[in-house]
Amino acid sequence: MKEWTREELYRAVQESDREELRQLHETIKESPWRSDFHIQTVTGLLNDPNGFSRFNGKWHLFYQWFPFGGVHGLKHWYHVTSDDLVTWKNEGLAMKPHLLEDNRGCYSGSGLVKGDTLYLAYTGNNKDIHWVRHPFQMLAKMDKNGKITKSQVPLIYEQKGYTEHQRDPKLFEHNGRYYILLGAQNEQKKGVFLLFTSEEIEKGWKLLGELKVRGYEDFGFMIECPDIEKIGDKWLLLFSPQGLEEQGDLFRNKYNNGYIIGRMDFDNLEFIPESEFCELDRGLDFYAAQCACQDVYPDAAIMTAWFGCGEYKTPVTDEQGYSGLLTLPRMLKIEGNRLLQTPVPEAKKLRGNVLFEAKNGSIVRDTMHGLMPSSCIMRLEDPDSESVNLNLFSRPRKNGFMISYDKFRKTLVLDRSDMNNQFNTEFGAERKVKLENGLKSLEIYVDRSSVEVFVNDGEYVLSARMFPEKEENLIRMGGRNIDLTVWSAVKSVEDDFVI
Ligand code: FRU
Repeated sequence: MKEWTREELYRAVQESDREELRQLHETIKESPWRSDFHIQTVTGLLNDPNGFSRFNGKWHLFYQWFPFGGVHGLKHWYHVTSDDLVTWKNEGLAMKPHLLEDNRGCYSGSGLVKGDTLYLAYTGNNKDIHWVRHPFQMLAKMDKNGKITKSQVPLIYEQKGYTEHQRDPKLFEHNGRYYILLGAQNEQKKGVFLLFTSEEIEKGWKLLGELKVRGYEDFGFMIECPDIEKIGDKWLLLFSPQGLEEQGDLFRNKYNNGYIIGRMDFDNLEFIPESEFCELDRGLDFYAAQCACQDVYPDAAIMTAWFGCGEYKTPVTDEQGYSGLLTLPRMLKIEGNRLLQTPVPEAKKLRGNVLFEAKNGSIVRDTMHGLMPSSCIMRLEDPDSESVNLNLFSRPRKNGFMISYDKFRKTLVLDRSDMNNQFNTEFGAERKVKLENGLKSLEIYVDRSSVEVFVNDGEYVLSARMFPEKEENLIRMGGRNIDLTVWSAVKSVEDDFVI
């Protein structure tokens, strides 16, 4: 792996870099792990989704972007748009660090649509000459022509009483007031939420104080990417706490991302949980989820996340000069005190031709003949056999990427340990979920270097990256009397070079 100097890492993109990036993209484009229907980095590294919103008749989404290679360097914002959350178009660079306040990166933030303007709140990651970090919460505005203008004056300055870790503003409106929910670390090195308010978006921001979450006073050393959504009459608090201890099958990733359902008491600055903290995803690669500012689905939230995690490596693509995907957008609904997560309804459009179909265990159609398509969508219904096994991207005597369910243990397992390319193995290569209500359905989205498994129409989701080699091209399916359909996937993202 190339060693990056500080100078190379903290390089802001210039018009004159176009040719260099075009060449990088030319090689990246040939990689077998570029996706067919996931938002992927144009070049370099992608991490968190930012500014997700429905504005001016389209979905807008930005991602944290370092243009020059598969490493965490100077963060820019890259812009993509969609009419339907399925087909995505590369729009190019949205923001680059050019102010003193964001000299070492335009870090994560959110979008709020008001009239003809999409407001984008983000963290200016300033570092001084001694390389000490000073966070500023900044604002940019996008107009209806897509022109983005950054404000020069911070909305919120560095807060006393907290460490340098203050970031990822969630800008939202409630009862005619504006709020910013910020992730931070206090001087005792605990993760906290800070809540600010103002009557205007562009100025007048005041700290209300810490938002207390009853029962979660000591929950990790930092909170990143907070988000808060009202769904029906409940509130959903989503966040990425760092430093949770592993607990059996829970919290096994380096950093975790979860939610609590509850009530929001703005007067007493308190979030009152009505559910436990649950992981949004029980797979191996998921972080920094963000919900869209939108009014298309009033009683639901639309969410996407980074299909990765801080400090993870994906060596095979990192070396090819790129890293990172966003997960499929999901629809979140609350039923009782449970969150249901399904692919957005529009994801049905991703189903192409039926490649394989088994009804009650008998094969009705099969054009795959044991060969694994590099991307596809699979759905399995009501298995009543003792166990179900799917071995994707396998080869003789190797399990490949394994998804299996044991009816007696009521346990679903995802296991990538038998694939050629191993990575981040210090966090294990398998994940287990106990299905209290048994297995009713699996909907699986396979896209060249990723697998997302939706269990029982939204009860759990497990997502994992994987990088199959050419010879890992077989599929095996086991289980009696199962109904299984495999569709080819419709290509909905173009790998075109737009910067
Ligand atoms: C989460 C995160 C954010 C930060 C951004 C920088 O992955 O660390 O807290 O704003 O990434 O890229």
